[in-house]
Amino acid sequence: MERRLFLQFMGRSTLLASLIGSEFLLQACTTAEKHLQTKGAFPSLAPNMDDTFDLVPGLKSEVLIKWQDVINSEGEFFGSNNDFLAFLPGENDKEAFLWVNHEYVHPLFVSGYHPESNPGVRKTRAQADIERKNVGGSFLRLQKNENGWKVDFKSTRNFRVDATTPMPLITDRPIENSETAIGMTGNCSGGKTPWGTILTCEENFQDFFGNVKFSKKGDTTKRHVIAASSPMAWDDFYPHAPEHYGWVVEVNPKTRECKKLTALGRFSHEGALVVEAADGRCVVYMGDDSQDEHFYKFIADKKGSLEKGKLYVANTSAGRWELLSLENPKLKGLFKDQTELLVRTREAARLVGGTPLDRPEGAAQDPVTKSIFLNCTMNKSANRPFGSIMKFTETLRDPCSLTFTSEVFLNGGELTGFACPDNLCFDKKGNLWMTNDVADYDLGQGEYKPFGNNGLFYIPLSGPDAGKAFRFAVAPKEAELTGPCFSEDGKTLFLSVQHPGANTDDLKNPTSHWPEGGKSTPRSAVVAISGPLLESLTS
Ligand code: FEO
Ligand code: CA
Ligand code: CA
Ligand code: CA
Repeated sequence: MERRLFLQFMGRSTLLASLIGSEFLLQACTTAEKHLQTKGAFPSLAPNMDDTFDLVPGLKSEVLIKWQDVINSEGEFFGSNNDFLAFLPGENDKEAFLWVNHEYVHPLFVSGYHPESNPGVRKTRAQADIERKNVGGSFLRLQKNENGWKVDFKSTRNFRVDATTPMPLITDRPIENSETAIGMTGNCSGGKTPWGTILTCEENFQDFFGNVKFSKKGDTTKRHVIAASSPMAWDDFYPHAPEHYGWVVEVNPKTRECKKLTALGRFSHEGALVVEAADGRCVVYMGDDSQDEHFYKFIADKKGSLEKGKLYVANTSAGRWELLSLENPKLKGLFKDQTELLVRTREAARLVGGTPLDRPEGAAQDPVTKSIFLNCTMNKSANRPFGSIMKFTETLRDPCSLTFTSEVFLNGGELTGFACPDNLCFDKKGNLWMTNDVADYDLGQGEYKPFGNNGLFYIPLSGPDAGKAFRFAVAPKEAELTGPCFSEDGKTLFLSVQHPGANTDDLKNPTSHWPEGGKSTPRSAVVAISGPLLESLTS
């Protein structure tokens, strides 16, 4: 039956038919017998829950780098749970650079800490220290040969940033008596600036050093530190001020300088989409990935810098960006100064009428219409467990506009075939590439059963299949695919395969063995996807 469907599909698809070489025909047949579905002019995989990284015919992939690979002669290594990827062109078309975020650790794999199997045994400082070296980011030189992009593991340009790297807080005044933060944590997604720096975003910062709660507006004396409750929790050994985390960090890969940009607010930063306004200033769109939190934008004061500017929160009922500053009459007298307002961004956002959203995650700009697409991953309590993709259109399509319209572009669900959209990016032709993130413990369970493992979806925005989601890749067990980003020529799609085997609680029996197979420990990795299908769609 599946073979017949596949042959029907091959007969109909002029696109693929013109592309098929024997290598891909072979691959197509193997995949088809296993998984291929027909639903339009493009191939689409049926959901599955295998421990493999599956691709539709016409695409192939290669693992570029994986957890613990040594990246330079100093012995620095590729961190754990890689997420956001940013491709930066090099000196010529055979050289490029890749920035990679390392979001968090699975303590059992990284330090051996596992309270579930050793009740009452506490983490040691030595274990915390191993974990602190596994987060942050990696910067890598890439080289291209006839087989595509490879990591140059010997390059002196390669470096790591981790949770021990001191970095300045760019702020009007010290925060908790310091203008330096120790390290960055929870680096989920990010962005790129036109001046060649990387933005890397601290998301679930509370898991590492806890958080603070203030009992009254404008009263910082009533500051309560809430200890981190996650299995990472390094605050026992390193009681760093929680206010030093939850920011967007700008990394200059040439100087290796990192700085925390407090003007962009403090919350669970998913990513930072940078858009250039007509006058050259940058506007940064940012989701706060927590339930009922907000969508923000920052308008820089001047070209070439994000250190100063104005922060706004989206009020979707009024179609208005609400100013988060003491100049806003709704905030007057409620915060001691702008620094305190920024530390307490979420409270300020509520006070000015920011609209709570269903865990706003990645954002991307449509290169054709200039609309901003925003993934809202899900809201179980509001009975929206599959999430949606929202679309924001600025008045006059000007990113500096203070008014906009918004709508739901696509709902997740069985009809569209995806659940819990997370990251997204556009190709040069204006079509959308989206990865989804059903939580590892929900995969294949209950209402999420029809979706199988997480995947990568191609969503054309024009033509007869506009708005349909084609499942181009399926992740291995308990992983999510994150950080999709294209090479400059559009011929390679880089992708993170994050947390395969996330539900492992016995090192001898991990729930995934991806990518090395056999009885190996699972490892998050970066893959490079290429092939005739990709070239035909994106270049
Ligand atoms: Fe780290 Fe919101 O995903
Ligand atoms: Ca993740
Ligand atoms: Ca994410
Ligand atoms: Ca997510």
